[in-house]
Amino acid sequence: MCGIIGYIGDKKAAPILMDALKRLEYRGYDSAGISTINKNNILVEKDIGKLEEIKEKREKEKNINFEKIEGNVGISHCRWATHGSVTKENAHPHTDCKNMISIVHNGIIENFSALKEKLIQKGHKFKSSTDTEVIAHLIEDNYNGDIEEATRKALKQIEGSYALGIICSKEPNKLIAARNESPLILGLGDKENFIASDVHAILKYTNKVVYLENNEIATLEKNNYSVKNVNGKIINKKINEINWSPELAEKSGYEHFMLKEIHEQPRAITETLNNRIENGNINLKEELDLNDEELKKINRIIIVACGTSWHAALAGEFMLEELAKIPVEVEYGSEFRYRNPIINENTLIIAISQSGETADTLAAIREAKKRNAKVLSIVNVKGSSIDRESDSVLYTYAGPEIGVASTKAFTAQLVVLYLFTLFMGNLKKSLKKEKITDLIEKLRKLPLQMESLLSEENDIKKIADIYKDKTNSLFLGRGVNFPIALEGALKLKEVSYLHAEGYPAAEMKHGPIALIDKNMPVVFIATKDDYTYKKVLGNIHEVKARNGIVIAIATEGDEEVGKLADYVVYIPKTLYILSSILTAIPLQLLAYYVAVDRNLDPDKPRNLSKSVVVE
Ligand code: AGP
Repeated sequence: MCGIIGYIGDKKAAPILMDALKRLEYRGYDSAGISTINKNNILVEKDIGKLEEIKEKREKEKNINFEKIEGNVGISHCRWATHGSVTKENAHPHTDCKNMISIVHNGIIENFSALKEKLIQKGHKFKSSTDTEVIAHLIEDNYNGDIEEATRKALKQIEGSYALGIICSKEPNKLIAARNESPLILGLGDKENFIASDVHAILKYTNKVVYLENNEIATLEKNNYSVKNVNGKIINKKINEINWSPELAEKSGYEHFMLKEIHEQPRAITETLNNRIENGNINLKEELDLNDEELKKINRIIIVACGTSWHAALAGEFMLEELAKIPVEVEYGSEFRYRNPIINENTLIIAISQSGETADTLAAIREAKKRNAKVLSIVNVKGSSIDRESDSVLYTYAGPEIGVASTKAFTAQLVVLYLFTLFMGNLKKSLKKEKITDLIEKLRKLPLQMESLLSEENDIKKIADIYKDKTNSLFLGRGVNFPIALEGALKLKEVSYLHAEGYPAAEMKHGPIALIDKNMPVVFIATKDDYTYKKVLGNIHEVKARNGIVIAIATEGDEEVGKLADYVVYIPKTLYILSSILTAIPLQLLAYYVAVDRNLDPDKPRNLSKSVVVE
């Protein structure tokens, strides 16, 4: 959703605030703003558009640059609109009537209408139609010389979710932060402190962070900080050291983060496998906070997730049922809590999330825990809410994923699901030792195979050209590659704004076949297997017979598909179950190049946000 940065220290705040904000822009990019305190005055600059657009516009108009604002304390914000349309007035920061308090906010204030009405009756004048501005006026209303106390009093009246950064012209040596349901961390530096929505935004400045919990308020000064609950009771917080390198959050010469992250997949998979294979077996024991007895008893798994992570869950269902022989159901995070899921002591809930902050998945976890289920999460961001609220966590070591369209986190999720499958297969004796050895051997080859697949990038670039004048596309796959077809369609929709649908290939004849004509590119995942390969070839014939354009993802050396399809991308030979980890890559590249051909920015697709922290 929105991104927040705050700074207090010896240095000029604005360049730091804007530099760090750039790294958060994937959270929201319809408008941005900054506020500092200079000579006991609150300064605010804000505008609509992406940061680069705002910068260019202001340079042209010889207007003040955000970076040039004076002051050693400040807050900045990039917005993904919820309440109030995209206008300069609705952009953050928001101030009170006296221009004494300035705030940035991520979240939704549910009772803002009632609060606003009361404040208007008291004489407060509003400048925007956001829910956020209410907080600035509410703090003003409670201000009695102590900004921390006024914030506490204001927050007691607020219902909803928030991550807040607050500065007050009367107390220029303080930066206030508060959190409820929306992520916020404190970064601790040398004679300077920070607040941020995401850790990687400030890694360049410090790797020491404190995670704020719900209903906590922090007061940061240049040389110290304190965290209290809403009643003013001091809370001792743990300082965490983050080992992600700051370079991982930069583009490193790639035109877009999406492309860089697609290319990082061999490394992401290697790191995700590190220390998890031992003596020809999968060792997750030290990481799982569930003992062997608890794990052996599991006779049903429900996987909850959203979007791309939900597609990983579908592939995970296939792996766990096929190899570990455990029945699995897959649920959308958003639907799970509004049903009456049947859970007993032998049911394991697996939650999958890159960000670890997705509100729908988090709500599903809380529902599952209410029903006494054990929750194991597969998460990329350490210290995130899902990480902290789960009973046990298996990390994907994909590194920070900045591109809004998830790529490397997805394949890393598939690998963790595969590792867990083999681990459970061994534990429950549904997989023989020799079989596990073979499954691991093929797994180990994946990073190198990914590298060779990525070197075919130019072929995919050429295929992307055919989408220039197209408006629709179908993605078809079967078995473990059906979720990849769904993911391919989602990637194309997200970054190129083309309409795309994913289906099990055999379902085409039950309806979607009516769409096929010479303008319809159909992407087939037609890798060689003992199960459905022949049937998929039949489906390709059906599309060709109706003049559709066939793009096939096939196994290297497969001449049959080569002859049938208009375009082919070959993936290296691997086990059927692992093929999904490879077939995902050409589809990510296809979506990327179609977006670039259409002059779109794949890192910041319209209307989307990297972590969706509202339900
Ligand atoms: C992926 O490309 C999407 N941007 C989106 O579907 C995402 O996967 C979804 O919002 C879930 O996010 P999470 O993995 O961080 O929970």
